[in-house]
Amino acid sequence: MKKIIHITALLVVAYLMNSFVLRSGIMKNALPDKTVEQRVDSLLALMTLEEKIGQMTLFTSDWEMTGPTLRATYKEDIRKGRVGAIFNAHTAAYTKELQRLAVEETRLGIPLLFGYDVIHGYKTIFPIPLGESASWDLTAIEQGARVAAIEAAASGLHWTFAPMVDIARDPRWGRISEGAGEDTYLGSAIAVARVKGFQGTGFDNTDAVLACAKHYAAYGAAQAGRDYHTVDISEQVMREVYLPPFKAAADAGVWTFMNAFNEWNGIPATAHDYLLKDILKWEWAFPGFVVTDYTSINEMVPHGYASDYKHAGELSVNAGVDMDMQGAVYYNHLADLVREGKVKESRIDDAVRRILRMKFMLGLFEDPYRFSNAEREKRLIMAPEHLAAARDMARKSLVLLRNEKQLLPLPKTMKTLAVIGPLADSKVDMLGNWSAAGDAKDCVTLLEGIRTKLQGSTQIIYEKGCNVDGTDRTGFAKALAAAKKAQVILVAVGEAGWMSGEAASRTDISLPGVQEDLVKALIATGKPVVVVLMNGRPLTIPWIADNAPAILETWFAGTQGGHAISDVLFGDYNPSGKLPVTFPRNVGQIPLFYNPKNTGRPMNPNDKYTSKYLDAPNTPQWPFGFGLSYTTFEYSDLKTDKKEFDRNETVTISVKVANTGQYDGEETAQLYVRDLVGSVTRPVRELKGFQKVFLKKGESKVIQFKLRADDLRFYNADLQFRAEPGDFDLWVGSHSDATLGTRIVLTR
Ligand code: BGC
Repeated sequence: MKKIIHITALLVVAYLMNSFVLRSGIMKNALPDKTVEQRVDSLLALMTLEEKIGQMTLFTSDWEMTGPTLRATYKEDIRKGRVGAIFNAHTAAYTKELQRLAVEETRLGIPLLFGYDVIHGYKTIFPIPLGESASWDLTAIEQGARVAAIEAAASGLHWTFAPMVDIARDPRWGRISEGAGEDTYLGSAIAVARVKGFQGTGFDNTDAVLACAKHYAAYGAAQAGRDYHTVDISEQVMREVYLPPFKAAADAGVWTFMNAFNEWNGIPATAHDYLLKDILKWEWAFPGFVVTDYTSINEMVPHGYASDYKHAGELSVNAGVDMDMQGAVYYNHLADLVREGKVKESRIDDAVRRILRMKFMLGLFEDPYRFSNAEREKRLIMAPEHLAAARDMARKSLVLLRNEKQLLPLPKTMKTLAVIGPLADSKVDMLGNWSAAGDAKDCVTLLEGIRTKLQGSTQIIYEKGCNVDGTDRTGFAKALAAAKKAQVILVAVGEAGWMSGEAASRTDISLPGVQEDLVKALIATGKPVVVVLMNGRPLTIPWIADNAPAILETWFAGTQGGHAISDVLFGDYNPSGKLPVTFPRNVGQIPLFYNPKNTGRPMNPNDKYTSKYLDAPNTPQWPFGFGLSYTTFEYSDLKTDKKEFDRNETVTISVKVANTGQYDGEETAQLYVRDLVGSVTRPVRELKGFQKVFLKKGESKVIQFKLRADDLRFYNADLQFRAEPGDFDLWVGSHSDATLGTRIVLTR
C-alpha cells in the first residue's frame, strides 16, 4: 500500500514537472514548434484509419535480412499507403526510388521514413561500440556517431537504430559488443554522447539522423547470457542499473525508443505498460515514438502472453508501442481492433502524431528527397576526414593488458618480424558485427597496417597458422618456421566478427578452435610474442594472461583498424584505453562485475565459510577500468575540501596524477564511491566520475572531481530515489581496484 502511495505521488509530481517542462520548452526534445503541431493535426484530420495504421507500420526491404522474416510485397504496401517507414534500404538512389512510390503514388503522398542499423559507422566503420567505449573519450565517441550520421544521411537515411544503451554484465551475451559495457555511469555518459552525435544540432542541415535508444529495457540481463532469454530482476536493479542510460538518452533528446525482445518479471517489454506508459511516456515525458524490435509483437504469442497476433497487437498498442517493425500485426489487425472498440482511435492518433511529427521535423514534407543526395553521398562517404576520425577512434579504443619488460612499443628497425594468426590478415572480421554498409574491401588489416608502417625496412613474414575455429593444425609448422626466423612474433587471435552481436551467445568464451595451442607453440619458441586480441566480448584466456609477455586488446577496430593497431604497436600512439567491462578468469565466475554487493560473508581466504569458490579466485583476470600505458602514472595527495557535507553542499575531491614513466601519455582517472550503510545494501563501489588527463613525461597535475549528495542517490525499499546520510568511502585511481582512498560523511 505504502509503495502504491509513493508511486502515485511520484507520478503526480512527474506529471506536473513534465507539463511545466513542456510548456516552458526547457527540455531539449520538447515538442517542435506550434506550426509543426498544427500541420500534424490538419494532416491527421484527412487520414483514414488504414492510412493512419500505415504510418505505424515499418517493413524491411529485401536488401538485407536482420531478422527471421522478409516481406516480398513491401513496394506494393508502399503504393497502397499501408507502410510509413522502411528499413534496410539505403543509398541515395534506392531511397529516392522508394520515396517516389510513397510521394507520387499514394493518396496523401506522405513521405517514408528510412531507418537502418547504423551502429558504429555507415560506410566508414569505426570500432564496435564496446571498443569505442574503451576509449572513455566522450568527444571522440560523439564524433564517431557524427561521422556515421553524416554518411548515412547523405545516403537517404533518416533514422538509425542506435545507440544500444543496454548495460551488459554477462560476456556470454553476444550483444555486449554493441553497447558501452557493464557500468551505468559510463554507459549513461556514452549514451548521451552517441545521441548528440547522431542527432547533431537538428535537421536543418541534412547531416543528422534520428537516434533510437534500444532495447528498452534490460535486454542485457538475459538469463545465462542467452540471447532473447527471460529477464527477472528487481525493480531497484531495473531502475538503478538498466534504466539510467535510457533516461540519459531521453534527457539528451533522443527522438525514438525501441522496445526489447525480453520480458521483465513476466510481461514482455513489447506490451509493458509500466515501462512504456508510466515510466517512458509519463514520468520522462518522452515526446518521440516507440518502435518494436523485429516482430516482437508477434513473439508475445510464444512468450505465452498473447493468444494470437491480434491479441498481441491490442496489448502492445494499448501499452504505448507506436510502430510495428516487420510484424504486420498492426497492418493486419489494428483496424479491426479499433472497430471492435478494443483500441481507442485516440491512441492511434497519438501514435501517428508522434510519427508524423518526426517527418515534419525532418523537412520531408518540404522536400521528401532532401536526404537522398547522390552528390553528397559521393563527396562525403569515406571522406578523408572520416577515415582520419575512424583511425583516431580506433587508436583510442585499444587496451594494453600486459607489457612485460616493456616489450611494446616495438622498434621500427627490426630486421624480421613474424605476423601470425587467423585474424592478422582478415578484412571482414575487422568490421565486427552490425557494420551497416561497411565493405570488407575497404578495411586495412593488421598485416597491411604493419606493412605500410614499416615500408619495406623490416622483413615481414606472414603465416595464418590456423583458422579462428575448427581443429586443423596443419598450418602450425609453417607458422613456427616463420616464428623461428623472426626477432619478434605478433600473433592475432580472437573471435570471428560474426561470433558476437545478435543471436551470438557463447557458453565458452575462451579462444575458439586451436588458436590457444598456436599461441602456446609460438611462446614455446622462446621468442618475444605479442598477442593481438580481436573480439566482441571479454574472453577467458588465463594461460595467455600469465604467459604472453604482451597483450593488446583491439576489439574489432573498423575500417582503419590495421593502421590504428600498428600506430600503437610501433609507438606512434601511446595506448590509453580502459576496459569498459570486466574480463573474468573463467565462465563459472559469470556474472562478474566490479560493483556487486558485499554479502554477509565477504571473501576471506582463511575462512572456509565465506563467499568464494573452491577452484578459482573471486577476482577477475582484468578489472573494469583497467588498461596500461607505455608510461606509468602515480596517484597521490588525495584530498577533499571538507570531511562532512550536507545535501546542499558540494565536495571537491582533488588528487595529484604524475607521469612517472618514459613516454608522454593519457590517463583516465576514475572516481569510485561506496556507501557504507544503507537502508538497502549498496554495491562495494560505484563509478561516480572520470577524467582524461594528458601528461608529458615527468609532468604532474592536480585534478578535481565534484561530488554532491544527489550523486549518491539510490532507490530505497519504497522506490524513493534519495541519498542517505552516513559514511562514504571514496577512491581515485586508474581502475576499479584503485586503493588510494579517503572517507567523507553526508550529514543530512
Ligand atoms: C535487433 C535490433 C535491430 C533490428 C533491425 C533486431 O533483430 O534486435 O537491434 O535494430 O533487428 O535490424
